[in-house]
Amino acid sequence: AQRKQIDKVLALFRLTREQLVGVRDKMRVELEYGLKRDTHPLATVKMLPTYVCGMPDGTEKGKFLALDLGGTNFRVLLVKIRSGRRSVRMYNKIFAIPLEIMQGTGEEVNAGQGVPRSEVPACHPIQCRPGMTAALSLQLFDHIVQCIADFLDYMGLKGAQLPLGFTFSFPCRQASIDKGTLIEWTKGFKATDCEGEDVVDMLREAIKRRNEFDLDIVAVVNDTVGTMMTCGYEDRNCEVGLIAGTGSNMCYMEEMRNIELVEGDEGKMCINTEWGGFGDNGCLDDIRTQYDKEVDEGSLNPGKQRYEKMTSGMYLGEIVRQILIDLTKQGLLFRGQISERLRTRGIFETKFLSQIESDRLALLQVRRILQQLGLDSTCEDSIVVKEVCGAVSRRAAELYGAGLAAIVEKRREDQGFEHLKITVGVDGTLYKLHPHFSRILQETVKELAPRCDVTFMLSEDGSGKGAALITAVAKRLQQARR
Ligand code: BG6
Ligand code: GLC
Repeated sequence: AQRKQIDKVLALFRLTREQLVGVRDKMRVELEYGLKRDTHPLATVKMLPTYVCGMPDGTEKGKFLALDLGGTNFRVLLVKIRSGRRSVRMYNKIFAIPLEIMQGTGEEVNAGQGVPRSEVPACHPIQCRPGMTAALSLQLFDHIVQCIADFLDYMGLKGAQLPLGFTFSFPCRQASIDKGTLIEWTKGFKATDCEGEDVVDMLREAIKRRNEFDLDIVAVVNDTVGTMMTCGYEDRNCEVGLIAGTGSNMCYMEEMRNIELVEGDEGKMCINTEWGGFGDNGCLDDIRTQYDKEVDEGSLNPGKQRYEKMTSGMYLGEIVRQILIDLTKQGLLFRGQISERLRTRGIFETKFLSQIESDRLALLQVRRILQQLGLDSTCEDSIVVKEVCGAVSRRAAELYGAGLAAIVEKRREDQGFEHLKITVGVDGTLYKLHPHFSRILQETVKELAPRCDVTFMLSEDGSGKGAALITAVAKRLQQARR
């Protein structure tokens, strides 16, 4: 009887072929909807024009700074591109973004402004002084500039004047390559006073406030776009960028004639789909479970990014935790005892899911991981936990596959091809670390888009390289116009 109850829960995560075809077709509808001038403002899949219109052609060269904000790590990079041989050298440093700056929690951390620079510790939480207030947007961008200063120092480039490409992995409305208004925060960010503001302006102002160096911010790019470019540098067939990491998103090259929001019909432009918002109009309600709803309600942005919350690294562990709580309540796990640990949000990071699901791991080791997480399990418990993780990650990979099938099929039809050969550039911790995710995703695309021959290319160098390449192209065009 116990087994039946467990199976009942697991079954909620098993999607039939029909359901997956349904997801693919609904995604297609939403993609088209977001491209149309009249319906675009209402679209949940935002389909944002990026003003990136072509792939690098190998003639790019120069030294560039790149920022990479929004994934697991915040990085500052120096990228040296040599033309001809397509050789790129990169130097980078990872910096922490303190939680109180990321999520704008609590006035007690409001400070920074008025604190003499010499007193601000290098890239540590900005020092607090009672009674001092500064908008959290100022704090976030002051912090970023502090990290750039540290990096320039570290590289022996103090005072250098370099063009900069900014990978900013959040939805931005762009009117050109160097302008991007943050529509809303997603994932783990919530710093106030940024939404509705131009992130390039905020960065420029923070650089001015610091008054120590001058940087030419040439481009702002989404991580999907950076990834597509990084891979496109090696493979000219790469016309899609996919992120399966903290968040979930995809970009692709669209025919200009289909993009009603941008003037002109010639050529192509990259569209940042922001597909994480798929389902926010309720169109996925038939497959969302009570656990998905609980995760959504406990998140920083309830009601939003529903597809992202069913598919990406930041939320999969949370879905697992909600299921484990429920099974424990039903007396099916952990001797019916819900521990404090199990009540704690965020304990199941992607890396734990990946470890638990590894085929090479004996059950004893699964138990050890659970123990590390503060969960005291029996052997049976560990079997159930592994099954739960498997069901949640399989559904995520299948949903990704259905989404991707929609886009490659669209590209095939739009070009009037019987068969389409296309490369997808991919990055993200979920894709890279999880033992089964990439395989299931690829199998699902094959099944749901049989007339497309999709090659998956793992991005080894992150989005920063792509952002630098985009910056190089933009800079060349800028100079040609002068
Ligand atoms: C990296 C990019 O390679 O992939 C990041 O450089 C991006 O900007 C990331 O956000 C996605 O992965 P994750 O797992 O770090 O969110
Ligand atoms: C979130 C962001 C999106 C980003 C994705 C992956 O969905 O809104 O811009 O590309 O995460 O990092």
